[in-house]
Parts: sequence; C-alpha cells; structure tokens
Amino acid sequence: MDRTSEFQAIANTLQARVVREGEAFLVVGGDSLEALRSLPDDCVSLIVTDPPYHSTKKSNIRGDTAFEEDEHFLEWMQEYAAEWKRILKLSGTAYVFCASQMAARLEVGIGRHMRPIGQVTWTKPNDPGYDGWKGKMRKQSLRSWYPHSERVLMFEQGTYGSREAYRRSPLGEYLLECRKAAGLSMVELTEQIGAYGRVNRGGAVANWEAGRNVPSADQYAKLAETLEATGRIASMLPYDDAVRPFNVDKDVPFVDVWDFSSVRPFPGKHPAEKPIEMLTHIVAASSYPGDVVLDCFAGSGTTGIAAMSLGRRSVCMEIEESWNSVAAEVLASASSGCEVSKPERGRQSHRTELTVDCLFD
Ligand SMILES: C[S@@+](CC[C@H](N)C(=O)[O-])C[C@H]1O[C@@H](n2cnc3c(N)ncnc32)[C@H](O)[C@@H]1O
Repeated sequence: MDRTSEFQAIANTLQARVVREGEAFLVVGGDSLEALRSLPDDCVSLIVTDPPYHSTKKSNIRGDTAFEEDEHFLEWMQEYAAEWKRILKLSGTAYVFCASQMAARLEVGIGRHMRPIGQVTWTKPNDPGYDGWKGKMRKQSLRSWYPHSERVLMFEQGTYGSREAYRRSPLGEYLLECRKAAGLSMVELTEQIGAYGRVNRGGAVANWEAGRNVPSADQYAKLAETLEATGRIASMLPYDDAVRPFNVDKDVPFVDVWDFSSVRPFPGKHPAEKPIEMLTHIVAASSYPGDVVLDCFAGSGTTGIAAMSLGRRSVCMEIEESWNSVAAEVLASASSGCEVSKPERGRQSHRTELTVDCLFD
C-alpha cells in the first residue's frame, strides 16, 4: 500500500473520532489509547509524542496528576508502548518526551516492547535576561540538582534481547530472514549484487545484516531483485518501509544534547508546548516525505505542524476538546497555505509572570 492509501485507511478506521480532517492531517478526539487500539498494524512511520509527565504534577495538563503511584503511570505508558510497536512500520522510529526523573524507568518499560536507541537531553535554555523560575528560586532550598532539562527517548522496532538480537537492527533481521528463505549464502548474495566489502567475503551484506549500516536505495533494489528472482520469497518490502531513515549532517544538531529554546509564555500557549524547531528537527531526521507521523498527546498540534511543514502527513490525538480545537484550527490554517510561524504563534511578553508551572514547559 502506498502512503496515500495508508493514510486514508487510518482516516477510515478513526472516522467516528475525527474532529477535523485535511488532505494531510487528522485531529482525533477522545482517549488516544482507545483510538490506537483500532488502528491497523504497520501503518505509521514515525511516532513523536509528549505524554503527561506525571512527575511534574501539573493540574492544568490532563493526565499529569492522574496517577497516585509512579508504577501506575509506567504501566499506562507500557500499554501505549505495546500499541506503538504494533502500528509502527519496520522502518519506524518513536520519540517519547519525558521528565528527567522518569526517563530511566520509562526507557526500561517501553524497552520491553521496542529497542531503545537514544536518549536526548533537551537543555531548554532561556533567552538572556529571561531566567524563569530558576533565577528566582532560593537555591538553598534545593534538595537535589535543579532539573533544567527534559529527555527525549528514541526507540526503533525490536527489543532488548540476546547478544545476537542486540547486534542486529530490525532491518538486519529482516534481510537475514529473506536471504535464508531465498536459500542464498551471504557470499553468494554478495557476488550476485556486487556489494563486496574490503575486509570480509560477505561484503556489505554482512554489515547490513549485522545492523552496522544500511543499503542505499539502489543497493536495496538490487538485493530485493536478486532474492525475489529465486522464486522462494514473496516480494520484499519497499525501501521506505524497510530502512529506518536518519537524515542528519554537519549543519544540524547530530549529538544527543539539544538546546532548542523553550516556548516563551504567550496568551493561549499550551502549558507544555514544545518548540516547533525541535519537532521539525525530529521529523526531518526520522521520516521520509509523505510518511505518516503520529502524536498521541498532541496538545496544541505542534507535531502536526512540523510534519505538515515538511510534506509529511500527521495524525494528532488529543483528549481535551479545547486543545483539539486549537490543533484543528492551526492545522487547517497550515493546510490551506497560511503560514503558522512560531513568532506569530508565540508572540509574547517578557512581563508574563512565572509560576512554578514554568519549571516544565
Ligand atoms: C505534555 S502535553 C502535550 C503538549 C504538546 N506537545 C504541545 O506542544 O502542545 C500532553 C497532552 O496530552 C493530553 N492527554 C492526556 N491524556 C490523554 C489521553 N488519554 N488521550 C489523548 N490525549 C491525552 C493532554 O490533554 C495534554 O494536552
């Protein structure tokens, strides 16, 4: 199925819950866990999601104070993780925002379903002269280090596992299975597609199967053609469904510490709104044009805006009606060609008074 048909299939499945629909976006109301359960398998390429943090106990964010015990929050997140794994393509990536206090336990919990491949520290710098709560608080009252960063956990398909599983990427395992089913040895396949390595006789194939690197689109096409020609395997997945994208270069942040500025307060700001630049960075690095990007806790719709601005499709789920109407409005405007630039959305005043809530935004 191509991406347009996949997106349409998602829209059809979620129809009763859709609050607003555009050519490249869906805003979905109600509980996202229930909505997820109705989605088909393997239908989403990228999950970028920002659940209630739980540890910050913000009364103005639905779900943030919903759990008495950390354990209950972690169990809830694992229910999501089980669904994320099911709906994510083999080439998919999931990014989950969280507070530093919950990051380790969340990574272990979600890691039971998907393979953790990175943990980004977002340092949330304040603009000069705008030091927020941090500048005003009495440091002597601190009982541990002031939490001035948040985490972004990154997962791919696969799980923690044996030494073998650890060495292989989901793509590696898939290529290995296809080659074995086709009845070719690594050396035979290498010879047929000419992907010789400088060191070992299995050449590039050995590296792909071990998850050390990935084939180019041309190399993958040659490999698929050779394996399919044996008549022993059905047609292989298209490149975009098999090879996880990761597009960075020297001109963008490629390390796991990010310093995108927090969104400054402005009337109508979501209490946990994430900077659009950070979301755009994630979408650009970890998806192909046209891909479906899912956010299960969409708030003001920032993930959707980032996705659409880069020619991706977005599914934004949000339980609060007030926020899903905001998301619906901004996505509809963006979709009709009106620019939703950050300065316009984020026009704000330096005079806005800060409350303890600004600790995590
Ligand atoms: C941390 S905020 C996301 C903010 C968003 N990243 C933004 O930039 O605006 C979490 C959001 O999840 C929503 N939420 C909480 N529980 C939910 C559920 N079960 N289903 C869907 N949305 C939920 C909350 O209403 C809140 O808007």
